[in-house]
Parts: sequence; C-alpha cells; structure tokens
Amino acid sequence: MQSIRKKIEKYIIMNTDTETAAGLSFELTEEHLMIQKAARDFAQNELLPGVIERDSKAIYPEEQIKKMGELGFMGMMVDPKYGGGGMDAVSYVLAMEEISKIDNSCSVAMSVNNSLVCWGIETFGTEEQKQKYLTRLATGEIIGAFCLSEPEAGSDATQQRTTAFEKDDHYLINGTKNWITNGKYASVYLVIAQSDVEAKHRGINCFIVEADTEGVTTGIKEDKLGIRASDTCSVMFQDVKVPKENRVGEDGFGFKFAMKTLSGGRIGIASQALGIASGAYELAVAYSKQREAFGKPISQHQAIQFKLADMATEIEAARLLCLKAARDKDTGQNYDLSGSMAKLFASEVAMKTTVEAVQVHGGYGFVKEYHVERLMRDAKITQIYEGTSEIQRIVISRTVLKG
Ligand code: CAA
Repeated sequence: MQSIRKKIEKYIIMNTDTETAAGLSFELTEEHLMIQKAARDFAQNELLPGVIERDSKAIYPEEQIKKMGELGFMGMMVDPKYGGGGMDAVSYVLAMEEISKIDNSCSVAMSVNNSLVCWGIETFGTEEQKQKYLTRLATGEIIGAFCLSEPEAGSDATQQRTTAFEKDDHYLINGTKNWITNGKYASVYLVIAQSDVEAKHRGINCFIVEADTEGVTTGIKEDKLGIRASDTCSVMFQDVKVPKENRVGEDGFGFKFAMKTLSGGRIGIASQALGIASGAYELAVAYSKQREAFGKPISQHQAIQFKLADMATEIEAARLLCLKAARDKDTGQNYDLSGSMAKLFASEVAMKTTVEAVQVHGGYGFVKEYHVERLMRDAKITQIYEGTSEIQRIVISRTVLKG
C-alpha cells in the first residue's frame, strides 16, 4: 500500500501551480509545510467546486470524503501498521485548518473520524479491534461516528439513558443517540452506554457497534443552520446484540474513555474553527483590495484596516493555541487544558471574524456566492459541539483553580 507521504507528494507534484503554503512557519518542519500545502491544494481543487450547492441543498459530500480517505486525511495520526499516516497532531491541525477554510461539512467528518473514532480505538482498543476496525477506518475505506449525546444528555454527559446490559456472551444495547455526525454513512459507531445504573458514570461503557447490526436504525438528516451538507442524525438502538469483545477498555471505563477522547476531539474542532476564521479573513482581505468606495479600495479606509488588523491578530492567537495543544499531545503532555483553551478561543474568534468578514463584504457578504455567509453559519456550531464554550470554561476554570 502506498504510504500517505508518497500519496501527498504525488498530489503536490500534480498540482504545482498553486501558491506556496503560508501561515505560521517557525517550528514547522518541511514535512509540516508539505502537508499544509497538500491540504490547501486539495481543498481548493476538490472541495471548492460545488461547495455552495452542497451546502444549500444539504448534499452529503460522499465523493469528496472518499477522496480524503484515499489521500490519507481520514486517519492522519494512526500508526502506519494500521493503515494510518503516522503523523503528529501538528500536521493534523494544519490540514484541518486548510480543509476548514473551504468545506466544513468535510472537515467535521474528518475530525470525528480522526480524533474521536480512530484515536479512541487505537489508544484503548484491543489488538483484535484495531485489526478488525481501525485498519479500515484509518484508510478511509469506512468512516466512523461517536455516539455520546442523547436527547437528555448533552452537556451533562454523565446522564446516559442508553443502556448496555450483559446477557450471556454479549451486551444488549437500547436507547437513542442524538446529533450524530456521520450518522447515516458510518459503518462503525462508538456507543457510550450505561451498564450499571447504580454505579452512575463509573458504570458507563463504550462499545464498537457495526451499523448493519440488527436493531440499529437512523433518523432523518437534521436540517441545520451551518455545516448543512454534513450527515447529522439520531441513531436508535433496539435490543442490539453486541459481542463482549466489542467493549472498549475495562468494565466501567466508558465515561473516562469519552472524556479523554473528547480532549483530542477539541483540538480538531479548534482547528476547524481556526480554518473558518482564516478562510473568512482571506476572503475579506482579497475583497477589500478589489472593492472601491469613495475613490479608493476599501482596504485603504481605516474602518476596514482596523477590522482586518483585529482579525489577523486574533487568528494568529487562535493558531498558536491550536498548535500549542497539538504540541502538548505530540510530546506526551496533558492536553485537556490546552485543548479546551484552543477550542474556546478559536470558536469565539471564528464567530467574531466571520461576522466582520460579512460586514467587510457589505451586501455581497449577505449572498451565497461570496462564501463568507456560509462560513459565518458554519462558525456557530464550533461553539456548541464537542463541548459548548460554557463547558470549555468549566474544564478550564476547574483546572486553573486546582492550581
Ligand atoms: N480525562 C479523564 N477523565 C476525566 C476527564 C478527562 N479529560 N474529565 C473528567 N474525567 C473523569 C473524572 O475524573 C471523574 O472520574 P471519577 O469520578 O472516577 O474520579 C469523571 O470523569 C466525572 O468527572 P466530573 O466529576 O468532572 O464530571 P462532571 O459531570 O462534573 O462534568 C464535563 C464533566 C466536563 C462537564 C463533561 O460532562 C463534559 O465534557 N460534557 C460535555 C460533553 C461533550 O463534549 N459532548 C460532545 C458530544 S460529542 C460531539 O459533539 C461529536 C460530534 O459529532 C461532532
């Protein structure tokens, strides 16, 4: 099998006419820059065409996600022995930023598959689980979904109503999961469920459930404000028999599994928010140089210059926080705090920047053709999923108050 580096090198050679990757260059290696450029070229060449139509008609980007898998973007950090790219989290942040400048329905699928599903199985799964599932998830042959949220368990994730009780040689899962990204297209679900009600969150488990198991059904695709093309739906489990060997980790490890996995997921969503912000900023800069008012390009008016200055400064700060969290992960340090800080800050910057980018565009910013209105709608979800901004503040304040 061709390694991801080979595939990426080949892709770059095929697309040498695009501009050189810019952005934060210090501390980034040649390989980081190469990956950043590959992701930028891919987003420009393969994701930009049709992105407006996919968004407005809520068409799932199946073909685009398949190509992302073929290029290695769906299992970037997974060990090559399981079919992954063996890359570090810094590379992942760089690629997520570039993809998210253009298509956030694709980047959310990428984030969930990489940092929740692949990472969860690779870190806590058995060798059999890795051979059976990870090898296909990492290559993008199949995609996965992470089933934690429920109709009555969102931010308060300990309140799981989905049950998974032991029966003979298997577990029997019953319940409903809400807001599941990749819900209809996933072949594999990581399902968090309560196995021992008395034990509360210490009685929660995580299971790998194959989507075609009897008793698994999906609800209608949600009609959303942003990331409209992405696949979001409920997933229902009715007397679903799951073999005992599909439990991930020790009995009762499910809640910790979810928390640890989400810490990395938050780096992915932070990078998505960063991409939304930097994508909107780049569009605003380009537009401001070309649009004239009162006899000169609007970029020469201080009202616009100050907006661009604030955007550039905040985006740089968000990028540094994302890279710091990724570096913490790569160097084996705890990244719960830095991941939450990155997600909190980058998602707030994404919202603020996209609103200002629409303002810079004036009336043109309000129509779909100019992309910034879509980025503004996409930005909102980054303040909500994988832990709202309020949840990030809980995680951060608890940590800093501990001293
Ligand atoms: N790593 C390991 N263990 C952790 C942990 C972490 N990062 N965070 C908490 N825990 C452990 C605690 O140590 C504790 O264990 P013990 O009782 O055994 O000591 C246990 O988990 C409970 O912790 P808390 O007492 O802190 O729990 P809490 O209920 O007060 O709050 C919370 C926890 C941080 C608020 C958590 O509920 C949370 O993160 N909620 C948000 C849920 C979320 O992010 N959902 C996103 C859905 S997935 C999604 O959006 C994906 C998608 O499709 C895009």
